[in-house]
Amino acid sequence: MKLRTVVLALAAAVASLAWNAAFAAEPIQPIAGPVIKSQAMVELGKKLYFDPRLSKSGFISCNSCHNLSMGGTDNLATSIGDRWQQGPINAPTVLNSSLNVAQFWDGRAADLKAQAGGPIANPGEMAFTHELAVDLLNSIPAYKAEFKRVFGTDGSVNIGMVTDAIAAFEETLVTPGSRFDKWLLGDKHALSATEQEGYKLFKDSGCTACHYGPAVGGSSFQKMGVVAAYDTPNKAQGVAGLTGKDADRMMFKVPTLRNVDMTYPYFHDGSVWTLEEAVDIMGKLQLGRTYSKDEIAKIVAFLKTLTGKQPDFKLPVLPPSTNDTPKPKPFG
Ligand code: HEC
Ligand code: HEC
Repeated sequence: MKLRTVVLALAAAVASLAWNAAFAAEPIQPIAGPVIKSQAMVELGKKLYFDPRLSKSGFISCNSCHNLSMGGTDNLATSIGDRWQQGPINAPTVLNSSLNVAQFWDGRAADLKAQAGGPIANPGEMAFTHELAVDLLNSIPAYKAEFKRVFGTDGSVNIGMVTDAIAAFEETLVTPGSRFDKWLLGDKHALSATEQEGYKLFKDSGCTACHYGPAVGGSSFQKMGVVAAYDTPNKAQGVAGLTGKDADRMMFKVPTLRNVDMTYPYFHDGSVWTLEEAVDIMGKLQLGRTYSKDEIAKIVAFLKTLTGKQPDFKLPVLPPSTNDTPKPKPFG
């Protein structure tokens, strides 16, 4: 690491410690703005995020399933992949995903860079290979030149550069400025009385045992169905799918509740379409508590204050393919 990078990283760590200490009394802390290390890399990552040519069909981009006009999700129970394949699990939002302790419902990718290579080569998602993706980018001189500018290398594009750039873009997809954060930061008029009562209920009844931190989740793996089992036809077993251990059955990464008003349907199987029902289920299955209609309405009112400022940028214009660019294969 270069000295400047180390100094920047240290400064960011100290700033984030001070930031978190200031709000330590609350289980939820405000979202901080993005720390941008290289704007040029972010711009390149943004192009790749929107580029459907990284899929076999030439039709599916990251934005197809993590639509930044829709809270970073597809608002479908489970996603549609290559050749209209039905996905196995609900697509989590990419918003604030840089705050997650690990990526995916079962945490099988350590970070955003490790995650980003997955969907390109997943036969049920973008159905490409890393070699084909790299060949494709190398066939487009404007892309090659941009990679060279960003990474300072003379050679060709490689998959490590692709995932670095996508991760750098994803790190900018944080959503500060929600009404709840304004309230935390001292604007006592930012929340209505009902919303404040909802937050109190959320804290006092124990939702914050799992949904805490700046992302209001994303920090731990917990069992879905602590008090009573969750009834679902979905085959996902959570962390047990990786470890094979019985104790890890139905252990999922606690989802972030930031922007939850936009990220329906809910739960790993995407089977619940309303926040009212999701809160009712959480109360019963995680806490053994049956909320009244009025209590549910208050908690939902609070949850809706967690919607922050959505990513706001110009749509990237992608460099056109050349005569040498491999052709898309949308139908087989
Ligand atoms: C066909 C739909 C689809 C496409 C295309 C897709 N994803 Fe996903 N993404 C998903 C699904 C479904 C999951 C959850 C999978 C799991 O947890 O097993 C996921 C998980 C993630 C996560 C983890 C979020 C979390 O909270 O754990 C990130 C980050 C992500 N995708 C980013 C990307 C990027 C970057 C691309 C493009 C390179 C991409 N995705 C392409 C459907 C898709
Ligand atoms: C023991 C830990 C735990 C507690 C306590 C808990 N949750 Fe959850 N919550 C989870 C887990 C794990 C999931 C994901 C479950 C799944 O998808 O199968 C989840 C999912 C959710 C979701 C759906 C989010 C999404 O994007 O799919 C909402 C909304 C939610 N919880 C709200 C609450 C509320 C409100 C409370 C308090 C009544 C609460 N939770 C208490 C662990 C917990």
